[in-house]
Amino acid sequence: MSKWRISMARWLLRGAVRLPENGMGGRRPPAASDGHRPRHVAVIMDGNGRWAARRGLPRTSGHEAGLRALSSVLDGALEEGIEHLSLFCLSTENWNRPRAEIDALMRLAEDTFDSFGGYAERGVRFRWQGSEARLPSAVVDALREAEERTRRSRAMTVVFCFNHGGRDEIARTAADLARSAVTGRLDPDAIDESVFSRHLPLPELPDIDMLIRTSGEQRISNFMLWRAAYAEFFFVDTLWPDFTGDHLRDLVAAFALRKRRFGAVTGG
Ligand code: FPP
Repeated sequence: MSKWRISMARWLLRGAVRLPENGMGGRRPPAASDGHRPRHVAVIMDGNGRWAARRGLPRTSGHEAGLRALSSVLDGALEEGIEHLSLFCLSTENWNRPRAEIDALMRLAEDTFDSFGGYAERGVRFRWQGSEARLPSAVVDALREAEERTRRSRAMTVVFCFNHGGRDEIARTAADLARSAVTGRLDPDAIDESVFSRHLPLPELPDIDMLIRTSGEQRISNFMLWRAAYAEFFFVDTLWPDFTGDHLRDLVAAFALRKRRFGAVTGG
């Protein structure tokens, strides 16, 4: 990668690699002490294109601004003590976008995953969730290296859902189970929800507690369908590039007021 692209990525992420101030390896005390903290927050980062269009800028400028928002949200999530943060960066359907936009997103992704190393010092572990199909090998390498560089970090896991599709994930898991059954390693009658969950990519990732979508759209768009089964949804009008760590904190506070029943009946 060229020096220019590395410094551009660093500029986009400015402020994102501050060292921890509390000497706790990045693990800050939780900002609130209630029992309704979401363990797993997932975000559909929508609205980059509209943000750019409103300013007469190309869509790629919207994605660059989206990346700056991402640093603010990572900071906010660390401060809130969120354990798992999943980010919808590219869907299996996004390949239908104009070639120039896809190319720009691939370049931005490569630079981003390459330059996120400083987060390891703040306790952030990066994981990738998605399919290798159609991805340039440089992007796959950058994702794998980001996972490798941060594999010992424990404060927060950030999952880049890059070339991810919820149905694709379920279909691949089903194929994996079928292969095990065909070879006699798994009894088909033993397959239940918990066995299925254990065969998903990143099986250690818990179900989503809160799912945020920015930009006013109210749909799930094939995002982490299995794990979103009992997620609390938060649809906000803010376009993703304007979304900040403070917005995240407000939504986490709103989550604490939600009554979750998981299909059961509660008193009162
Ligand atoms: C949806 O907005 C956003 C995306 C498809 C890309 C999200 C990308 C980022 C937030 C940049 C950082 C991510 C990486 C790591 C590459 P949209 O383009 O659909 O917006 P619109 O609905 O207003 O057109």
